[in-house]
Amino acid sequence: MKLRDQLSLVLTFVTGGVLGVSFLVVSLLVRRDETEDLDRAILAQAMAAVLLVAEKAPEAPQVIEGVRGQIPEIPAPVRRYEAIYASHGQVLSATRTFEGNVPSLEQLGVPESLPGEGVVVELSVRGNPLRGVVLPFGEGNRFRMLYALTRRSVDEDLRFLQKLFLALFLVAIAVTALLSRFLGARLAADVGMLAGVARAVARGDLDARVRGRTRDSAELRALSDDMDRMIEQLGELVSNQRIFISHAAHELRSPLATLRGQLQLALRRERSPDEYREIIQDALAEVEALGALAEDLLVLARHQDGHSPRGAEVVVEALLQDALRMAQGFALQRDVQVQLLTPADPLRIRGVRSDLTRAIRNLLDNAVAHTPPGGEVRVELRESERGVEIAVVDPGPGVPREDAPRIFAPFFRGSREQSGEIQGAGLGLAIVREIARAHGGDVQLDSAHAPGARFVLWLPKAPG
Ligand SMILES: Nc1ncnc2c1ncn2[C@@H]1O[C@H](COP(=O)(O)OP(=O)(O)OP(=O)(O)O)[C@@H](O)[C@H]1O
Ligand SMILES: [Mg+2]
Repeated sequence: MKLRDQLSLVLTFVTGGVLGVSFLVVSLLVRRDETEDLDRAILAQAMAAVLLVAEKAPEAPQVIEGVRGQIPEIPAPVRRYEAIYASHGQVLSATRTFEGNVPSLEQLGVPESLPGEGVVVELSVRGNPLRGVVLPFGEGNRFRMLYALTRRSVDEDLRFLQKLFLALFLVAIAVTALLSRFLGARLAADVGMLAGVARAVARGDLDARVRGRTRDSAELRALSDDMDRMIEQLGELVSNQRIFISHAAHELRSPLATLRGQLQLALRRERSPDEYREIIQDALAEVEALGALAEDLLVLARHQDGHSPRGAEVVVEALLQDALRMAQGFALQRDVQVQLLTPADPLRIRGVRSDLTRAIRNLLDNAVAHTPPGGEVRVELRESERGVEIAVVDPGPGVPREDAPRIFAPFFRGSREQSGEIQGAGLGLAIVREIARAHGGDVQLDSAHAPGARFVLWLPKAPG
């Protein structure tokens, strides 16, 4: 069912239900109040009538018509129905209004032992509905008086009220149905428009936007703004992804081309075993570089999915020792010393040991690569309010100010590195950042540090 019809149906049903119940309750209350008023009037008049009759004709109360003028009357020309019975039920006297149809006490359902305040009775005379009271009176309660008035006014009031309610009910239902249909149509149009934009995006049109075309509801406007923002981010994500893939393809292509060239060269003519060995060793170095690149890409992809690794508790000093051992060969090759400064008490963090070691090693490799031969790299571990801080400091040329905002982006390499002898794909720092963030921490370049470079990796301390 369409949203518009659904909304209209639900609202109409609810309005109808609430109005119906309210009208019913009001009718019942009015009916009760009016009947109570009538009963009070009947009782007052009945008592007056009884007193009058008892005074005028205490022994044989036969002539009611004769004393009628002295009974207090309720306003409006109403017909009264009075009848006097002996206690055993014989009709002694009655007004002419009964037109000879005086009901017996039995027909009225009056009990023989009548209470002093009488009983209320409902009766009908020639199709005219009456409400009355039967009171005992006379010496030893020898007589009964029925005093009744028509209840037509109460019934007419109620009927009028019911007609009025019915008319109001029908008008309210019609207005609700029309109004809710109109509002539903407006809402459905807005939802349809949002759905249209979502469909366009699903088809690949990342330029589709809602651009505030929804009508005046604040929620829909907020939703359309959110949707536009989401599409924009989606577009950025897709374009970043494209750039990433093209960079990755490029990085893979150059070592593959070198490898292919080397192998083609080897096959061009017969070579000595030593020449073959040399070519194979070169090719192996390229294959190893390719393997490392593939590994870096995999690590990056694994950490970009937004899931936090569970890992186990690890002692940071042990991580630093592992990373140092791995970077040792490169440091020796470049004649660079690495000094480790750790606090007396061991610090613990939670995470995946191999990933955390890789992050520290990437920072160490960068520091060693940028340190002039004979220089020293310092790794300082300390506890801070952010958790555990690992600072890797080198005395190299530092990061140029214009490169600083981009060094953590995948495949970014400084102009110096691109042209110079330092090899790399520009993935090291991107991997460090992804690993740090996946573990609830982050990595920053300390821009205030000079000369040289200082990178700070911080990670939350293990709970407890
Ligand atoms: N210690 C440092 N001193 C100066 N510049 C640095 C330092 N570390 C990183 N950089 C700059 O940041 C860039 C990105 O570093 P990153 O580690 O991501 O890539 P890479 O070292 O060039 O290659 P890869 O790490 O993938 O082998 C470097 O090319 C360099 O310009
Ligand atoms: Mg690096």
